[in-house]
Amino acid sequence: MLALTGWLLFALVAPQSGAEPARIFASSKDCRECHTAIYDEWQDSHHAVSWTNPAVRLLSNDFANEDCIDCHAPKPIFVTGIGERVLPRATRRKEGVDCISCHQLPTNEDGSPGGMAGSIMSKRAACKPVEARALTQPDFCSACHNQHKTVDQWRDSAFATGADGTKRQDCLDCHMPYVGEGEAQHRTHRFAGGDVLDMVKDAVTLQAAAVNGAWSLTLTNIGAGHSFPTDERSRAVDVFWRPLSETPGPWLHLHRIRSPYRSEVDVPDTLLLAGEARVIPVTTAPEGAGDPVPATEAIEVAVFYKRSPYWLDPAKPDPDNEAQLLHSLELRP
Ligand code: HEC
Ligand code: HEC
Ligand code: HEC
Ligand code: HEC
Ligand code: HEC
Repeated sequence: MLALTGWLLFALVAPQSGAEPARIFASSKDCRECHTAIYDEWQDSHHAVSWTNPAVRLLSNDFANEDCIDCHAPKPIFVTGIGERVLPRATRRKEGVDCISCHQLPTNEDGSPGGMAGSIMSKRAACKPVEARALTQPDFCSACHNQHKTVDQWRDSAFATGADGTKRQDCLDCHMPYVGEGEAQHRTHRFAGGDVLDMVKDAVTLQAAAVNGAWSLTLTNIGAGHSFPTDERSRAVDVFWRPLSETPGPWLHLHRIRSPYRSEVDVPDTLLLAGEARVIPVTTAPEGAGDPVPATEAIEVAVFYKRSPYWLDPAKPDPDNEAQLLHSLELRP
């Protein structure tokens, strides 16, 4: 009888003694001790550089434009509230969009730490994860990513609606796929996007055909779950052609895919919607002007991607040196 009571007592107390006390986390560096792989992936991502990124510092005048702080060094999303405008934080801004921004839950009513939003509940772990499905939903990313309408574009696409029998895929399916095996399996925090050229290449296909005796191209957005290219204002995609020869001349511009900044009133919005197939006739001058290039001529065509939309000399774009090649084709009669 005594032995049994002892065992019962042990059973009641054991889980408690294995639990770590809740910690208050002052920096995302503190997560690394236990979540090393995820921390290292995140450190390699654009979320980790959102405060230090030279392109952002330049455009925000070193954050003298305070409106820019909000999403680039935010307070935790769950603290401001899903669906609410994010708010700027005052401390450790260098950590950018960090672990705490995405995972920290509001403090409990009794003043104890609220724990971390996750897919499981664990009273034992020091970070006290709590199951929070909202973390996996596009509305969560929307807090910051609808600035450039990426989430609205996804909502209108077959990836969200399942139209034409398309398999539903959301932000996490494409940007946080599972990596690692067994115990180590987790959703990657590398958040690959336009900074990973292979991902951009896989987003579109380039096809060519002779139509009514002239060359014609079709560029199709097959893989971006939203308009292409995303972060439409800074990014641009350009289609070029040139006669095929052993000493190739300069590339001749055919078509630009881009959404302009508000100040650029003369620039049309030409983003390629999710699933859209755009026909681009090959002509001697850009955007359909000039004469059709006959399919009796051997030519080379190419699609290039730019992380910044401007050419050094707009009259003579030099994509080989100022952009990244996505696809090219040699067309022969
Ligand atoms: C708190 C705001 C915020 C939230 C929430 C957020 N992001 Fe981001 N994200 C950013 C910022 C800011 C950048 C750009 C940082 C930079 O390049 O300086 C970025 C960059 C990215 C990039 C890489 C873009 C590139 O330049 O290559 C991807 C992909 C991405 N986010 C996906 C997501 C997904 C998916 C979610 C939802 C799970 C999400 N983000 C949630 C703010 C946020
Ligand atoms: C831009 C938002 C964002 C940032 C920044 C972020 N996470 Fe996550 N994290 C998520 C989302 C979304 C999930 C997926 C949740 C799910 O599948 O239920 C996730 C999942 C996780 C998981 C569970 C992993 C798994 O798949 O089993 C852990 C642990 C985690 N994050 C820790 C961290 C740590 C540590 C950091 C900082 C180094 C961090 N996160 C930064 C959004 C973020
Ligand atoms: C002392 C170790 C330790 C530290 C430090 C720590 N965690 Fe955890 N974390 C754990 C353990 C253990 C689990 C539970 C894993 C399990 O049971 O699968 C966990 C689980 C999680 C989960 C849920 C995982 C899931 O599968 O959904 C998230 C999210 C998370 N941690 C985020 C964080 C963040 C963000 C930080 C830093 C602010 C952090 N953790 C710091 C040990 C730690
Ligand atoms: C079907 C897969 C797919 C889905 C779903 C998807 N994306 Fe993407 N995303 C891509 C591909 C491919 C790229 C690279 C091509 C590009 O930049 O458009 C990309 C690029 C991006 C970029 C990078 C932009 C840059 O400037 O580097 C961001 C940010 C982004 N997506 C956010 C999101 C968010 C937020 C969601 C959910 C609403 C989402 N994506 C849904 C495939 C997807
Ligand atoms: C509502 C949230 C939000 C605000 C406010 C915001 N940004 Fe961003 N910013 C983002 C997101 C999200 C991305 C990544 C989007 C993508 O790549 O599609 C981004 C990306 C950028 C990039 C591209 C970085 C690169 O690597 O090319 C620059 C530059 C930038 N932002 C500058 C600014 C400036 C300047 C301001 C203030 C005028 C500002 N941002 C305000 C959310 C925001």
